[in-house]
Amino acid sequence: MEWLNDPEVRCYLGRNFPPLNLRRERKWIENLYKDRNSVTFGVVLKESDKLIGSTGFGNIDWRNRRAAFGIAIGDKPEWSKGYGAEAIKLVVRYGFDTLNLNRILLHVFDHNPRAMRAYGKAGFVKEGFGRIAT
Ligand SMILES: CC(C)(COP(=O)(O)OP(=O)(O)OC[C@H]1O[C@@H](n2cnc3c(N)ncnc32)[C@H](O)[C@@H]1OP(=O)(O)O)[C@@H](O)C(=O)NCCC(=O)NCCS
Repeated sequence: MEWLNDPEVRCYLGRNFPPLNLRRERKWIENLYKDRNSVTFGVVLKESDKLIGSTGFGNIDWRNRRAAFGIAIGDKPEWSKGYGAEAIKLVVRYGFDTLNLNRILLHVFDHNPRAMRAYGKAGFVKEGFGRIAT
């Protein structure tokens, strides 16, 4: 809740939600397992088991084998240490090899070069530019 209410994190996410409260966040977590069209992981530091963010797929279209990818490392002191690129690579591999996807897509703001660099390292390629991020 704290991460997603932080303007410095939120400004990259483009999600149309009002500020979160604990009740809403708990409900989101409780409902995760019910959604057959999403897969969500925590991003955790190996050495300390500390949770620093979350990642995964939403809007999984099983018939066409497509999914939308998302990631947020909310713990700002952990930015730019390579964790994001590592997590993106792992989850993308899981998407292709285990979920049997053949297309993984995402939207990223052009004011987020760090994310674009991390996505590029994991193999994402730019397909186009739009005026509205979803
Ligand atoms: C985007 C995010 C997942 C990236 O993870 P990270 O662990 O911070 O990033 P990494 O260290 O793995 O990789 C970042 C790369 O961008 C580079 N980078 C950082 N700031 C940069 C900048 N201003 N311009 C260009 N490159 C930049 C880093 O040097 C690194 O590249 P390198 O390994 O070749 O040196 C993470 O920062 C995050 O969750 N941010 C907030 C939410 C967000 O933006 N989510 C994505 C929404 S689409």
